[in-house]
Amino acid sequence: MAGRPSQEFNAEVVVVGSGIAGLSFALKSAKHARVLLLTKKNAAESNTNYAQGGIACVTSSEDSAELHIRDTVLAGAGLCREKVVREVIHDGPARVAELIELGVRFTERRNGKEQEPDLGKEAGHSKRRVLHAGDITGRELERALLSAVRASPRIMIREDIVAIDLVTSKKRKLSGPNRVLGLYVLDGATQRVLPIPAKVVVLATGGCGKCYLYTTNPGIATGDGVAMAYRAGVAIANMEFVQFHPTCLFHPSAPSFLISEALRGEGGVVVNAKGEDFTRKTDPRGSLAPRDIVARAIDEEMKASGAACVYLDIRSKGAVFLEKRFPAITSTLRGLGIDPALQPIPVVPAAHYQCGGVPAQLNGTTELSGLWALGEVACTGLHGANRLASNSLLEALVMAHRAAENVPAFLAKAGPVVSIPSWKEGKAHDADEMVVITHNWKEIRQLMWDYVGIARTTKRLRRAQSRLRLLLEEVQEFYWNFRVTGDLLELRNLALCAALIVESSLARKESRGLNANADYPKLRKTPKDTVIRAGRIR
Ligand code: FAD
Ligand code: SIN
Repeated sequence: MAGRPSQEFNAEVVVVGSGIAGLSFALKSAKHARVLLLTKKNAAESNTNYAQGGIACVTSSEDSAELHIRDTVLAGAGLCREKVVREVIHDGPARVAELIELGVRFTERRNGKEQEPDLGKEAGHSKRRVLHAGDITGRELERALLSAVRASPRIMIREDIVAIDLVTSKKRKLSGPNRVLGLYVLDGATQRVLPIPAKVVVLATGGCGKCYLYTTNPGIATGDGVAMAYRAGVAIANMEFVQFHPTCLFHPSAPSFLISEALRGEGGVVVNAKGEDFTRKTDPRGSLAPRDIVARAIDEEMKASGAACVYLDIRSKGAVFLEKRFPAITSTLRGLGIDPALQPIPVVPAAHYQCGGVPAQLNGTTELSGLWALGEVACTGLHGANRLASNSLLEALVMAHRAAENVPAFLAKAGPVVSIPSWKEGKAHDADEMVVITHNWKEIRQLMWDYVGIARTTKRLRRAQSRLRLLLEEVQEFYWNFRVTGDLLELRNLALCAALIVESSLARKESRGLNANADYPKLRKTPKDTVIRAGRIR
């Protein structure tokens, strides 16, 4: 990245992240401001790009907003903010119509003479309401959004730029209420750290699935946005609610490959090695119960039987249906020697989605002036203690729209852009750095999997807490003493997010939604968010 992009481009608004949240926001806010969009790998690389099932939205006359609201609230296990749920679901149809206008090609089907969206069904939904583009919805969204962003003369998009930390007026000891002044970023091409002043920094950095050994998330999901916000003094909410997707492929060559919930929506059933439909023992909805329930049933079954995986059996639908409805999944499986039309698919639960994050209003504003959070990094109250399938893309779209609408009013009142001092370079690279980074990275992901997984106990959480303290110290020492690299920055964020998950889980003395603690098996009467204030984890 030659030069300093925000000065070169004179951007008042800087967006970090090029998934659905960042791209949608950039497109819409470019009407009101010049936007600099930074992303740490190539622009399409994001959780969004791997989304399969689709976008939950009421578009059918057989469905209603009230039903979608009810399903969302039920899945959220008492912790959804109902006003937020209502607003997101009511805004959904307009946002989806805009995507279609933009050129997103959702799969359609013929109904008499009319073409209409082919609606998928997923767990926890009482109706078919998921718009999808085959089984590669995310890839189609990224294609359409990225091409529109690239065509906009008011958006500058820069790849291979890692956001490091926010700069605030408080940190710079300036008078007046605390606000964001910009951020520091690492330019991957030059390995130099650059200051980027801005009036608004929008975190659209996604989740932290990489905290776990097994995850459906790609490598970018290292919780950078949550960690940056926390270090800037922002409290973080509900991080204990890590959603484990029940059906990630169990195969050594494709450990993160998701087998979409839409397969269960079409009749796929989770069974054990004996072919028994064991999920019905815990919930009459069986394989179509909300994710927290199905993932827990699988976890218990695997622990009781000692099996390395369970199976998703969709043979009943036959090859023709599978090739048409799930072409990418069917061909990937066949490429790995598994024919889903002929044999059950080996699956295991894996970390999938961060329900908590940076507390934000639906327009993205947070407790820190000038810091906005959109999409998976944010915690709005839509998902409560367990997200309903396919509500994440919807939330990101609604938030991006509302945040963009807030740009003119915010910029009119915001203080001036203030310059940020240059970064103080650390000393030379350390010879041990790579081995320490890879070791610590593996250790965190393993300990989170073993001690902070689907079924938790206070003893295991405490073990994780004490190990993470040491790891955080070690990572901090590296960060302050040596020149920063992308790997070190991600490790630093991953360690902090892992610690936030553990602290939050320890603070929740009940089993609710995705937080199941054997020492506190009951629900507390009054549902409450968990909030970890700045300074508690160092
Ligand atoms: P992301 O799409 O994850 O984008 C984050 C962006 O931030 C990336 O571009 C990343 O490179 C960038 N970034 C991160 N840190 C930094 C940094 N420090 N500096 C610069 N850039 C940074 N949800 C649904 O609703 N329906 C589905 O069908 C569905 N299927 C899914 C399937 C899979 C396999 C996965 C993993 C998730 C799925 N989800 C689904 C969840 C959903 O895809 C995500 O929650 C959503 O896409 C998040 O969008 P986002 O824009 O918030 O973040
Ligand atoms: C899936 O296709 O199963 C993922 C849907 C989601 O995470 O919402």
